[in-house]
Amino acid sequence: MSIGYLQRKAAWEILLKVSYGDFSDHALEKVLRNYQFTPLDIAFITELSFGCIRYRKFLDLWMDHTSKITHKKQPPRLRWLLHIGLYQLLKMDKVPFPAAISTTVEVAKKTDLNGLAGTVNAILRNASKKLEKEIFPEISPDRKERISYLESLPLWLVNDLYKWVGNSKGENIVKAFNKKPSIDLRINQLKTDLYEFLEILHENKIDAEIIKDLNNGITLKSNPRSIKNLPGYSNGLWTIQDRSSQWVAPLLNPKEGEKILDACAAPGSKTTHLAELANDSAEIIAVDRSEKRLKILQSNLERLDLKSVNTLKADARRLIELNPKFISHFDKILLDAPCSGIGTLSRNPDSRWSLSKEKIKSLTLLQEKLLESIFPLLKKNGTLVYSTCTICPYENNILIERFIEKNKALKLVSQKQILPSLDYPGDGFYSAIITYKS
Ligand SMILES: C[S@@+](CC[C@H](N)C(=O)[O-])C[C@H]1O[C@@H](n2cnc3c(N)ncnc32)[C@H](O)[C@@H]1O
Repeated sequence: MSIGYLQRKAAWEILLKVSYGDFSDHALEKVLRNYQFTPLDIAFITELSFGCIRYRKFLDLWMDHTSKITHKKQPPRLRWLLHIGLYQLLKMDKVPFPAAISTTVEVAKKTDLNGLAGTVNAILRNASKKLEKEIFPEISPDRKERISYLESLPLWLVNDLYKWVGNSKGENIVKAFNKKPSIDLRINQLKTDLYEFLEILHENKIDAEIIKDLNNGITLKSNPRSIKNLPGYSNGLWTIQDRSSQWVAPLLNPKEGEKILDACAAPGSKTTHLAELANDSAEIIAVDRSEKRLKILQSNLERLDLKSVNTLKADARRLIELNPKFISHFDKILLDAPCSGIGTLSRNPDSRWSLSKEKIKSLTLLQEKLLESIFPLLKKNGTLVYSTCTICPYENNILIERFIEKNKALKLVSQKQILPSLDYPGDGFYSAIITYKS
């Protein structure tokens, strides 16, 4: 067995799982359970497999450039293995071509693709020769089509992004979708503070630093083997939460004694943040329609030792039917709506391939319905924060401005759109603060 063979095999198995419908991070976790890899191996496998998933369109372009059979006609298991080989040749500077080719061929030889090992070898050798001679695939000169291939994003999404934010910002965002996402933590201010926790991390030789402009944010400077094995996780010192998402709960300025509804709460990053900010002394109801996700929320509450939250499995559109006493009951409401997640594409390598315009359309209908059903639960003078992790205006400012226009009793206090960018390590996020006029 040659060095590096098992890592390529594991990466290929992750691609197979994702092609059967698993999310990338779940697939990675499941596959790694079957091996004993070092942290360096895991970093390599993550980079290789997630890179292949992100760059699927670009790798297919190269497959069509180097093989007689187009990617559409390749048997899927072979197509994913060729992606493993091609990605190393095209995107991983530190892997020498012969090692990339021989280890990938070895995977074919030792699996059901044995009969196709010669084909894998021929295509990868052809690709390496073309790369050395700088014979690149032909791509349309159209700016958007080019970037759609080179950065591997569906063309409809590139077109929409450019329409939403203009060409230059659009290009920056498309590139930012392929950057390595940051790993940010939010410390539990009821149990520790930034400096104390940073010291704990440093004592454990974990490189981390405080995130500027946030009260409780810390970012890790390198990937840990397992995030949940970091010090302080089991005794509730921190929660994993992207820096942009950490902006949301403070917008509600939650206070002791207030009645607060978190309408789409699971797995609870923001519910737990609200509870911590209110000194665990508000009355918080965390609603979600997914039982499975509510269980994760519940276990987070236990881990963080928070007592001020009650969970409720329900469709947030039907809360009034469920309990008419909820009308005008809450001082503050958070609606962190289900959304297309376009702001988090760098974190979720497979999402770009499952998104569609139709999906976004149906999400906007759900978001509108959620807003309409929830705002009667707000007390006069109460505050509603609406947030999403997308940058699609139809799910964000256009939706909110229309909603305010229709409901004259409401006032839009402010809204903020964070765009993904090569210069900003966090996700894209939207938030709006709305008050109920008395
Ligand atoms: C963006 S996620 C919420 C993330 C969460 N606020 C956090 O910070 O961890 C959206 C959530 O809305 C839930 N959801 C979707 N439709 C819903 C509905 N009609 N009623 C209640 N929850 C819903 C989903 O199950 C999902 O957990």
